[in-house]
Amino acid sequence: MADPTVPFDPDSLFEMARQQVECARAPYSGFQVGAALWSDSRIFVGCNVENASYGLTICAERGAVMNWASAGSPGEPSAVAIAARDGDGNWVAAMPCGACRQVLSELPASGELQVWIWNGQQGESVSLSELLPRAFGPEDLPGRKV
Ligand code: THU
Repeated sequence: MADPTVPFDPDSLFEMARQQVECARAPYSGFQVGAALWSDSRIFVGCNVENASYGLTICAERGAVMNWASAGSPGEPSAVAIAARDGDGNWVAAMPCGACRQVLSELPASGELQVWIWNGQQGESVSLSELLPRAFGPEDLPGRKV
């Protein structure tokens, strides 16, 4: 059980995202991404993992979501931080791709999920609904069984 008194701290989230960049497996693009998801007063991390059949590549954000789900989907994620380095090793601001926006949009959330982007010097936050307005979601599947 996580300690609910731990306050949300964007700097810690960015630190974990930056650490994940070191774990990235990106031999094809050279673009290394780290993500850190805040839920239940805990941080769940992910990095991109590329594959020679390019389409099988997993993004860092979805890795973090899988990590959170593997822990039993604790809490309601309220923020995700993303850090990235390009092929020259420079920090760059990377926005989540469309697939990751869609996956993030289906996380249980008490409020708006905030996406924090690291640009090498500072962080900027933007709400997921700004990144993915009018998302397709479970309400579009009224006949669903679960
Ligand atoms: N990538 C991510 O990890 N997250 C995103 O949201 C955008 C793209 C990765 C996938 C691939 O390994 C590399 O960045 C270049 O597209």
